[in-house]
Amino acid sequence: MQLSVFSAKPYDKTYLTTARATELDSSAGIEIIYHEFPLSLETVSLAKGAAAVCVFVNDELNADVLESLHASGARAILLRCAGYNNVDLQAAQRLGLFVANVPSYSPEAVAEFAVSLIQTLNRNTHRAYNRVREGNFNLDGLLGRTLYGKTVGLVGTGRIGVAFARIMNGFGCELLAYDPFESEDFKKYGKYTDLDTLLSQSDIVSLHCPLTEKTRHIIDEKTLPKMKKDAVLVNTSRGGLIKTKAVIAALKSKHLGGLALDVYEGEGSLFYNDHSGHIIDDDELMRLTTFHNVLVCGHQAFFTQEALREIADGTIRNLSDFVHKVKCKNALVQDQAGSPLVRSDSVPIRI
Ligand code: NAI
Repeated sequence: MQLSVFSAKPYDKTYLTTARATELDSSAGIEIIYHEFPLSLETVSLAKGAAAVCVFVNDELNADVLESLHASGARAILLRCAGYNNVDLQAAQRLGLFVANVPSYSPEAVAEFAVSLIQTLNRNTHRAYNRVREGNFNLDGLLGRTLYGKTVGLVGTGRIGVAFARIMNGFGCELLAYDPFESEDFKKYGKYTDLDTLLSQSDIVSLHCPLTEKTRHIIDEKTLPKMKKDAVLVNTSRGGLIKTKAVIAALKSKHLGGLALDVYEGEGSLFYNDHSGHIIDDDELMRLTTFHNVLVCGHQAFFTQEALREIADGTIRNLSDFVHKVKCKNALVQDQAGSPLVRSDSVPIRI
């Protein structure tokens, strides 16, 4: 059996090759083929002969790609990530494909990264680093705000949101959250409110909900004015949660005090690759990078040794469930008994 891995980086090879999955022994005869480029309609033919395909956040699995995969013999889609907004699950279900993700891998890794973005942006350590290397020890422009006592608003209190809440509670912040599904774990650290109240009272707003039809552009020209003047917005979740044009306008008008992004609406064609020798024609991204109070990273919040180990092990465990035809707890489409495994709030959007 062949497993075709798309968007494969050297670290993916290292961790997948050494994934611990006792159930999937060598007798299963899995041959792994690595492709460095992403899966799309242009590249799907390279999966020919593969029974299983392993993909990442920016691979495209729309209905056309899934149909093509199915026609060439693929039966399993293994996502080595938590988010699945890039997969047309309805089409996958119609085709009878097995689709599974790795829903929880070191949520602390992402939460800790969100905190590091806040701290960098708030205390200007990125600017200080460059200044000191130039022999400039002037503090002008590096003034920050003490986080203790500030109000932090979380949109989404799942695994990552709760891990983030635990850390921010340690900083002595007041926590507010909005989530249609309240979590008892979050209630240890803060209280739930509606989105408008959260936006109007928070000094920092951090997004931790999935990208769905309901959450797409949850931050746009209508919601941004509801935010406190000078508040900081953090997105380590999915780029599509923020309407980039609107956020640029809010930064230009000096209403928004800062923006920290690990994800970006148009990241698909840019992130995870070196474009330093090319002209980047995404004017909105380029505009964002000109603001001194904007920090953009290339979708790296998950990127710790611990998370990569858990992703690889989880991916191979899902493959093992598929191979051995056992019920997979990470399956994203209806199981063989027909019970819906996709929560109604998480209907993915097509990108
Ligand atoms: P989770 O599924 O544990 O939690 C998501 C929470 O969002 C749930 O509590 C859900 O009820 C809530 N939610 C759903 N619709 C909402 C809405 N309209 N408004 C507010 N909340 C809503 O997911 P987890 O593990 O906490 O991950 C969150 C997101 O983080 C993922 O969907 C993924 O997009 C992103 N992520 C980013 C990574 C990175 O490297 N930057 C790595 C891993 C995940």
